Amino acid sequence: MSKVIGILAGSLRKESFSKKIGKALLDFTPEGFDFKLIDLNDIPLYNQDFDDHNEVPEAITKFRTEMSAVDGVIFITPEYNRSVPGVMKNAIDVGSRPYGKSVWDKKPAAIFSNSPGNLSAFGANHHLRQSLVFLNMPTMQQPEVYIAHVNDLFDEEGQLKESGTKDFIKTAVDSYIAWFEKNVGQ
Ligand code: FNR
Repeated sequence: MSKVIGILAGSLRKESFSKKIGKALLDFTPEGFDFKLIDLNDIPLYNQDFDDHNEVPEAITKFRTEMSAVDGVIFITPEYNRSVPGVMKNAIDVGSRPYGKSVWDKKPAAIFSNSPGNLSAFGANHHLRQSLVFLNMPTMQQPEVYIAHVNDLFDEEGQLKESGTKDFIKTAVDSYIAWFEKNVGQ
């Protein structure tokens, strides 16, 4: 059976570059894997009362069910104020509860950070990494995936233009899959 890799883009914006990268990764899906885009649009802000009083909104149950079924996760994060955008952090928090039933536990992850600027969302990349350590997600260390000038990478149809960065993104996906198979995804 195919291994399923969930792809989470940390933005709600219609024209989000992170979402465009997520879609582009579908073209790089290797044999034996299924890449699945996970929609974060309808997930409400986490409130612990949901779980404590058995009032979990349907969108949260749907998200947890979807994430429980994946074997690994690629996080595509933009950066807000040198950290992880709230929408991505909220998705992580929602999936981490109720206590003891985290959807993230032991799932191999990769972080692809991106920005229109030069610094490639380095701050968000490493803040996210800190949460993944706590969530017990082994996370690919090399190559580190920092994507700069993301606004220059796509054509008018939202497809990745031929470029060194496109080649690098494909290499990063291949590296993640090789690492997943060798170390943790058997
Ligand atoms: C930004 N942006 C930004 N960029 C960056 O490289 N470092 C940063 O700290 C920030 N901070 C920031 C805060 C807020 C509130 C906004 C709205 C934006 C710019 C950001 O990289 C840009 O808007 C991206 O296009 C957002 O990602 P998506 O939506 O294209 O995936």
